[in-house]
Amino acid sequence: MNWERFKKHLLCFEDEGFSIDVSRVDFPDDFYDTLRTRMDKAFADMAQLEKGAIANPDEQRMVGHYWLRAPELAPAPAISKEISETLSQIKTFAAQVHSGQIKGEQGAFKNLLCIGIGGSALGPQFVSQALGSPKTDKLRVFFFDNTDPDGMDIVLEQLDGQLGQTLCVVISKSGSTPEPHNGMTEAKAAYAKAGLSFAKYAVATTGVGSQLDKSAQAEGFLARFPMWDWVGGRTSELCAVGLLPAALQGIDIDTLLKGAARMDELTREPTIERNPSAILALMWYFLTGGKGQKDMVILPYKDRLMLLSRYLQQLVMESLGKEKDLDGNIVNQGIAVYGNKGSTDQHAYVQQLRDGVNNFFVTFIEVLKDRNGQSVQIEPDVTAGDYLEGFLLGTREALSEKGRASITLTVKEVSAYSVGLLIALYERAVGFYASLININAYHQPGVEAGKKAAAQVLELQKAVLSHLRAHPGKPFTAEQIAKDLNLEQQTEFVFKLLNHFSVNPEKGVACTNTAHCHQTTYTSH
Ligand code: PA5
Repeated sequence: MNWERFKKHLLCFEDEGFSIDVSRVDFPDDFYDTLRTRMDKAFADMAQLEKGAIANPDEQRMVGHYWLRAPELAPAPAISKEISETLSQIKTFAAQVHSGQIKGEQGAFKNLLCIGIGGSALGPQFVSQALGSPKTDKLRVFFFDNTDPDGMDIVLEQLDGQLGQTLCVVISKSGSTPEPHNGMTEAKAAYAKAGLSFAKYAVATTGVGSQLDKSAQAEGFLARFPMWDWVGGRTSELCAVGLLPAALQGIDIDTLLKGAARMDELTREPTIERNPSAILALMWYFLTGGKGQKDMVILPYKDRLMLLSRYLQQLVMESLGKEKDLDGNIVNQGIAVYGNKGSTDQHAYVQQLRDGVNNFFVTFIEVLKDRNGQSVQIEPDVTAGDYLEGFLLGTREALSEKGRASITLTVKEVSAYSVGLLIALYERAVGFYASLININAYHQPGVEAGKKAAAQVLELQKAVLSHLRAHPGKPFTAEQIAKDLNLEQQTEFVFKLLNHFSVNPEKGVACTNTAHCHQTTYTSH
């Protein structure tokens, strides 16, 4: 790679401790010019969005995550006021918890259990890991981010005997998503088993008037924080969804917001060459043909940033993975995102990146500061951090030599400020890219459909179970039950459900295996 191209395509923000280098993407010199008109439209769309346009037409909603870090820019004074007031309520609540003014029945809170999924979990998890530390955290943070009973047991085992000092925040914008609802029900049962009243430990972050909001009010939760319809789940890290857990953990949320606000200022710049989010979006467009032809691999060389790829996976794939464009044409858009951390991944899938199918581009995240304080010398004048940097630079070079594209984002250190910068950088890049490919980045019809899918299966489960229970002691095959219920089209579902019943004790269903597993019989006792 040549130094001249590096100098040309490196954009540095010294004051912010951030830079983006796209010199290892082989776009032609006139590439920005060919897309300048379309990018101008993307800038204009974004300006309208920030002014309060209905940028999410399918849900007829404004898209206001940028106001969260600059409330004065919100399109109505009432919105600015709500944002500022919520922020001060978060700080007050966190201070009261830290001082012991709000506490559990067994003393000051030591732990925080967050219950949420998708946009109501990934941001809080990413920020908690990126900025937390066992030495300085004011509360130890745990998550229920699924409806897996065993997953919840693992968390509850860690909290055994400590629920009386564990605060629980239930996060759900809609307030009716099954997974957090189930998580909350399981948590309630665990508190009750420990002789504790859940409401005295519980906080809800949810849409005003949602099912969760109503039950939190009726049951007398410690506090309720609002989630607004103009903030999408995957862009909600900087509202109460992410700020409350972060503040409770002891993270500096003002600086987090400051970093995001600064990146927002930098990325409002309407000149491509000076706007890092625009450059990122254009690189995605170039590398994927504007059609998701290549996957985005996120490789932070820093353990603290390991969850960045999962966070971005949702932000990018839930926003851009759409069947139709804004004109209703079928486009099946998206960009696949995966990643974990370097150098760890060099001992896993990076083998394929170096030598295998060239269907990806890498975004390296380089962090200059190794750690707080001095490092041990592994060899004279060589530290573990020097190795980490060496692996990043070496792998990047090896990929380039084999014609594999990479982008490099550099931050001086992992701090509340730089994490804020990164969140805002990607939020706006996604928005720009969505304009370039003419899709709505702010709805999630597939997620909504997925939420309903389980409900249909659970209806079927009820029918199968009542049929078995109506004939206690009688063995049935899946085929027989499906036939009796006129559900032949769903025999496979019936078979799967019966197998699930037979392994778990609650349903009282036993199975008798035969040579062919599809002929297994199931009996209700
Ligand atoms: O980004 C999104 O919109 C989704 O991933 C949601 O955050 C997720 O489905 C959880 O929804 P809710 O917060 O309503 O429980």
